[in-house]
Amino acid sequence: MEIKNATFIVSNSDYRKCPDDSLPEYAFIGRSNVGKSSLINMLTRNKSLAKTSVKPGKTQLINHFLINREWYLVDLPGYGYARVSKTARESWMKMINEYFINRKNLVNTFVLIDSRIPPKKIDLDFLSFLGQNGIALSVVFTKVDKQNQSETARNVNTFKEAMQQQWEELPPIFITSSVTGTGRSKILDYIESLNTMINNK
Ligand code: GTP
Ligand code: MG
Repeated sequence: MEIKNATFIVSNSDYRKCPDDSLPEYAFIGRSNVGKSSLINMLTRNKSLAKTSVKPGKTQLINHFLINREWYLVDLPGYGYARVSKTARESWMKMINEYFINRKNLVNTFVLIDSRIPPKKIDLDFLSFLGQNGIALSVVFTKVDKQNQSETARNVNTFKEAMQQQWEELPPIFITSSVTGTGRSKILDYIESLNTMINNK
């Protein structure tokens, strides 16, 4: 699939105010600073579509982008940023939980994991939360340009082993770099295949 058109629609903190739910939607979530907004810009080939930052905690709201006038990409605020107040963490939890539990047109959630680090409990817990709520997901390893292929392969395998302790079947897995564009066509083809499935229903 090629992206011909990517338009920012709206940011908000309440799933009830999200755009109408008649189009398929794909959400991007993961720890703060893992590269969610950068991945959205890489996929859409628009460096300034989603706001990115070297500092964690940049994305604060639920951001909808309309793609090819046919489906939504959603950029979400990250979890696990240590330097936030308890109140801020609780309001994040409420906003995100409500979004995931109630958003009816959500087709798939891409959970981003930093390819350079060992499995983190917070990521495994978030995957379990999605699984327990019956939300379809894929795992996307980010920033692979920062290390060599064998290091990436080792970390991906360790993560898969950790997931296998909790999951009977592994989800689809993507290996990406927002700097080099690695993984772009695989993710877009995957979204296209899901969109086609929905349209044929
Ligand atoms: P929050 O919105 O704060 O939760 O962060 P985020 O997950 O949206 O991360 P963001 O896209 O803002 O990227 C965080 C930092 O990582 C930025 O400095 C990016 O330039 C950098 N980054 C993101 N993806 C990649 C990548 O694939 N390779 C490299 N080398 N850097 C990346
Ligand atoms: Mg962001």
